[in-house]
Amino acid sequence: MNQAASPPAEKPAEKASGSSTGGFDTMLGELVVKQGLVTADEVQQCRSQLRASESGTLSDLLVGNEYVTRRQLDRLRKEFEARKSTQRIPGYRIMRKLGAGAMATVFLAEQVSLDRLVAIKVLPKKFSEDKDFITRFYKEGQAAASLNHPNIVQAIDVGNSGDHHYFVMEYVEGDTVYDRIVKEKRMAERDVVDILRQTTRSLIHAHEKGLIHRDIKPKNLMLTKGGQVKLADLGLARSVDDVEAAKKEAGRAYGTPYYISPEQIRGRMDIGPQADIYGLGATAYHMVTGQVPFSGKNPSEVMHRHLKTPLQPPDELNNTLSANFCHVVEMMLAKSLDDRYQTADDLLEDLELLHRGEAPHFAKPKLDLSGMEVTVASPDAVAKTAEHTHSDTGIPGWAIASVAANAILLLLLIVLAIA
Ligand SMILES: Nc1ncnc2c1ncn2[C@@H]1O[C@H](COP(=O)(O)OP(=O)(O)OP(=O)(O)O)[C@@H](O)[C@H]1O
Ligand SMILES: [Mg+2]
Repeated sequence: MNQAASPPAEKPAEKASGSSTGGFDTMLGELVVKQGLVTADEVQQCRSQLRASESGTLSDLLVGNEYVTRRQLDRLRKEFEARKSTQRIPGYRIMRKLGAGAMATVFLAEQVSLDRLVAIKVLPKKFSEDKDFITRFYKEGQAAASLNHPNIVQAIDVGNSGDHHYFVMEYVEGDTVYDRIVKEKRMAERDVVDILRQTTRSLIHAHEKGLIHRDIKPKNLMLTKGGQVKLADLGLARSVDDVEAAKKEAGRAYGTPYYISPEQIRGRMDIGPQADIYGLGATAYHMVTGQVPFSGKNPSEVMHRHLKTPLQPPDELNNTLSANFCHVVEMMLAKSLDDRYQTADDLLEDLELLHRGEAPHFAKPKLDLSGMEVTVASPDAVAKTAEHTHSDTGIPGWAIASVAANAILLLLLIVLAIA
């Protein structure tokens, strides 16, 4: 495995491909036809108009004639520049684009020395201006490269080509969990438990090494053709704090903070393993119900609901789900850190029990006091309730137990007094 590269020198030796604006304009006609946005005849027509008017650009005419939108042009330009910069990464031969997200474009490439396929994520130029981000990008890239786990996309290399920074990783041939949700709408509980077990093992490994993912979501869980989970983007730290990043993404209609934990929303500095457990819980909820746990008109509304709105139990949206499974998902999505799984190890213990068809050890049904008939329980049962209740009701288990025990005592005294 290659070692992650050191941070780039202050001034990159090569000039950025941004000087490629001319290159982009030259290639534009070919690009829009290749992408199926415009026909060759329409490009020809714009070129004739261009020659006739002797001013303006092909981009202006394509937009002016409403053949493409400005947004489509911007996306094409970003991808063109990223592709150009990857062609200059020594040791790799770019093959085709695999996908693009809010931050970056991912390409399939051949690592020439080892004759193997890899995926290269290329960040846009604007990130080069953020020195803090670049420092973190390299530091975390090195940490990620030190991880080695069958359920984590292997980090191979980080580096820069001109103003573009890139991240080389294992190539995963398959879908993301997001693609599976789109295809299946509601995934089967058994399949989801399997995906959760594999992902939780990857989290245990990362957390042991002190790495928190912070962005667990369906698009970052890749699935190989053989059903193996590969957690992607571990070590790709966000440049700004989580809330700002989420808002920025939403502003560009790329996504909304559907999987972000309450503590990340609150901007806590000590984001720990439990944030990943929450993100995985939100992903699990989406997988089995076909809906994100909290939606809203805008990112602020979604985030407010993560903080304040009680979760709709998943079995209200999918009545085929087992009660045990729902309790586990609800505990992963507990708003308070005290009520959530404390570690990925604890979560895995419950998932293994679910897998074997047994009741989870940590996750228990919520105590619903509304409309409950008052029955006198045995002291044993009272003690058990105290041990198992978790405080989503806002009433700690020990408090309920002590009230019940006092009631029993009082009853006994009254009976004795009458006798
Ligand atoms: N290691 C990989 N192997 C194969 N394909 C990959 C790999 N990493 C990413 N991809 C593909 O590239 C796409 C873009 O990935 P990227 O991480 O940039 O964005 P994302 O996770 O989909 O979304 P977002 O930007 O919202 O985080 C993915 O959806 C996936 O299809
Ligand atoms: Mg990703």
